[in-house]
Amino acid sequence: MPIDRSAAEALDANDALARWRDEFLIPDPDLIYLDGNSLGRTPKRTVAALEDAVQRQWAGDLISSWWENDWLDLPLAVGNLLAPLIGMQPGEVAVHDSTTVGIFQLINVALDLSPDRVTAPVIAFEPSEFPTDRYAAEGVARLRGGSVRRGLDDLTGVDVIIRSMVDYRTAEIADAAAETERARSAGAVTVWDLSHAVGVLDLDLPALGVELAVGCTYKFLNGGPGAPAFTAIASHLHAGVEQPIWGWFGQTDQFAMDNPFTAREGIGRMLHGTPGVLGLVGARAGISLSAEAGIGAIAAKARALTGFGLELADQLGLATNTPRVAERRGGHVSILHPDATRLQQTLADRKVIVDKRDPDVLRLGMSPLTTRFTDVFDALALLADLR
Ligand SMILES: Cc1ncc(COP(=O)(O)O)c(C=O)c1O
Repeated sequence: MPIDRSAAEALDANDALARWRDEFLIPDPDLIYLDGNSLGRTPKRTVAALEDAVQRQWAGDLISSWWENDWLDLPLAVGNLLAPLIGMQPGEVAVHDSTTVGIFQLINVALDLSPDRVTAPVIAFEPSEFPTDRYAAEGVARLRGGSVRRGLDDLTGVDVIIRSMVDYRTAEIADAAAETERARSAGAVTVWDLSHAVGVLDLDLPALGVELAVGCTYKFLNGGPGAPAFTAIASHLHAGVEQPIWGWFGQTDQFAMDNPFTAREGIGRMLHGTPGVLGLVGARAGISLSAEAGIGAIAAKARALTGFGLELADQLGLATNTPRVAERRGGHVSILHPDATRLQQTLADRKVIVDKRDPDVLRLGMSPLTTRFTDVFDALALLADLR
């Protein structure tokens, strides 16, 4: 039976997560926003948290806030909040810096975990990997007198792989367990980029054999523009972690001032300089929503939203490269059209915001805490009319 709008309305009426939309600021109720896979919407509690951090803590408590308001501990405290969303334990995740910096650090960490230090490392990635991952890998290879390999079919001689868990163009989920193991048996360590996976997939990294991961908090975790990223490292590796950016936040006794650098215990050794407190406050507010709503329910709704979108795309004759199997796709549906640039703009003129990746991909991000089935229906129906 063909899908009509009433089917979307029925799904919204039965949506157990529907009430979470009220936790977000939505100043224009007529705007359909399908770009939460790039920048999540604004949680109401973020406004209150930032107001408190600025007015009471910064303006009122001033420098004492580093201790009194626990600013010093924020990178690890927010990491502890995020950890269960990816199956990690408290003390295994730190929230800090950008994803790009985290990738740079973790590739170096992976290289230095090797018992016989690698002198001319080979770092591999898919040619289609997200640009910043490729650039960071090239940068590490250049600094360490190594080289990069574009393509993951042949892992002979490869030391480290940087790889996205969810492909940013197709939403395809990599088989992380099999691929981490394939790399391991070839003598390579894999660093996983969870940017398009965290907050939308119910991940259990230890069960997948994943020990090193990085990702952002501004997409499905609704952390806010430029919110800090996270690095996650399995605790049994911590003692051997040597990351390349040494600074006083990664030092054992931060305020001793004139001692030589000795990396602190645990995941805190990934830190280096003064953290961006306001960004961390936003990240904490956003992550707390996903933690409270429950990542299992969030992941289930993502599969339902994308499944509904794919079924409708088929009905409307729209081409897609997003996997049909629910367990193999993340939180967006990609529609392929040679005129993607024009369509994105025309949709925006009609108050439908989607994302575009050149040359021909329109990404419809489905953010389970805010996206409704009727949003998906209305956006795809309009897209089909405009094509
Ligand atoms: C897979 C992936 N990695 C990294 C990034 C961005 O890195 P950064 O947070 O350093 O800008 C993105 C941004 O969309 C991404 O999709």
